[in-house]
Amino acid sequence: MALSGGIRRRTYANPYGARVDAMSSDTRTDHPGAFLTDVETLRRLAKAHIEQGVVTDTYEGDVSRTIEILQAVLATEIVCVLRYTQHSIMATGLASESVRAEFAEHARQEQEHAMAVAARINQLGGAPDFNPATLTGRSASEYQTGADLVDMIRENLIAERIAVDHYRELVRYFGDTDPVTRVMLEKILSVEEEHASDLQDLMATHRHRPAAS
Ligand SMILES: [Fe+2]
Ligand SMILES: [Fe+2]
Repeated sequence: MALSGGIRRRTYANPYGARVDAMSSDTRTDHPGAFLTDVETLRRLAKAHIEQGVVTDTYEGDVSRTIEILQAVLATEIVCVLRYTQHSIMATGLASESVRAEFAEHARQEQEHAMAVAARINQLGGAPDFNPATLTGRSASEYQTGADLVDMIRENLIAERIAVDHYRELVRYFGDTDPVTRVMLEKILSVEEEHASDLQDLMATHRHRPAAS
């Protein structure tokens, strides 16, 4: 379509899903989006390394390091699933019904985290490591059973506090170099903070009660 200045303008779909206007004349530098890589270059680069999936030339992170970090995160989440599941079964007694329900809910959410992290590893070209033989060595959190209800709550609170610290650090680490991984970790972090808060409340409620049998 011809514009008033006689410049032809075409609209392209760019790799980020937004639409970018590009001019067919040499006046691109006058365009507000001129600092962006031109679409022809983006298309050429995307086609040149098509086997690398989402890892394009504009990925600013270190892909192998990102995968390595996410493998540790995956192990941490799987250990959390296992610990919460075991606790949800072992927490017995009248006073523990609400705690069991909370543990089971946390186990389900940790499973969602594990799946999101595994999917991201796969997107980046890695194979998510679910090997049970090396799981605890790769995990930031520990698989601790508890002698009683308060013990279990305490162990989970410790694990959640470790997770919160770990994820905050990782969110800062990824910054703008891998925004998709960072946003995923921010979402997980907000749930881990809720978990820590839930456990703190449970601890306050059950600390002075007799241990469940
Ligand atoms: Fe989690
Ligand atoms: Fe959690």
